[in-house]
Amino acid sequence: MIAQPLTILDHHYQELNNGGEDVIQGLSQNPKILSPKYFYDDPGSQLFEKICELPEYYPTRTEAWILQQYADEIAEITNCCELIELGSGSSTKTQVLLDAYQKIATSCRYLPIDVSGGILKTSVLQLQKKYPDFSIHGLLGTYEQALVHLQSNYLQSRMLFFLGSSLGNFNPEECDSFLNQVSRTLQTGDFFLLGIDLQKPQDILEAAYNDSQEVTAAFNLNMLSHLNWRFQGNFDLNLFRHQAIYNHVDNQIEMYLHCMMSHCVSLEVLGLKVDFEAEESILTEISRKFDLATMQKQLQTKGLKTVKTWTDKKGWFGLILSQV
Ligand code: AVJ
Repeated sequence: MIAQPLTILDHHYQELNNGGEDVIQGLSQNPKILSPKYFYDDPGSQLFEKICELPEYYPTRTEAWILQQYADEIAEITNCCELIELGSGSSTKTQVLLDAYQKIATSCRYLPIDVSGGILKTSVLQLQKKYPDFSIHGLLGTYEQALVHLQSNYLQSRMLFFLGSSLGNFNPEECDSFLNQVSRTLQTGDFFLLGIDLQKPQDILEAAYNDSQEVTAAFNLNMLSHLNWRFQGNFDLNLFRHQAIYNHVDNQIEMYLHCMMSHCVSLEVLGLKVDFEAEESILTEISRKFDLATMQKQLQTKGLKTVKTWTDKKGWFGLILSQV
């Protein structure tokens, strides 16, 4: 008997974490806004994997380099029974950590968590083959669902990791409550490994989100296809254009879908009709760029004390290992 590779955290069939109330809310307000979690249906996750390989998109390869350099050290310091990854996607970078753990740990459990069922299932099946000594189990759901689930399923010693600067999608208030939730899933002595994208010149940042192959544009527009199938919508992707700009005041990339013509869109399942005006934009994502020292202070306020930090030679990306 093969154990089920996935636990589905959401019992509502084919829904993320609600019936799209956040879509109704976000499209009814001015300016309009949509949650970046709607990027990640299966085609969206595949587009994101392509983004990670783009020459302009430095975060993935920079973080992977740091992990390759220091994975053995991280494994030695932490030496936990349970490794939990939020937003695992394809788990490509994670394998460096799993390799390091394989050298030292007797038995270990890896729980990847993602909202995208296709990519999660594929990667869990691959990892189970590659790491037969590990117990590997995917959790399909949102961060919120996963963190609630984890609070009541504690094993022994835990390292939670959140890589790729996905934290950058949260505004300061969301970030604060997310970190509160993280600290609630951990016990004294447990570890939190956080990967964050750091502040750097605007031209490098803007190029990373306006790649010449226009994969990022396709990724952004795919959110509308996702809403179309999920909520029986009739967004016309030809009427929107991808836009990504750096906001100096808030130190964040902002991605928009810019509407080029006034028209009306309906989402049948939500019973929603939305008017769009020419030149209005939907904010689909913020990607905040952090300062290493400031983030360490913020973690400290949540009872997460920095054990060690690592960066690349240019100081473009940072890893913070903290402990409760
Ligand atoms: C997965 C949120 C870290 O903000 O860089 C990549 C998503 N958006 N290109 C990021 C993304 C456009 C990515 N995160």
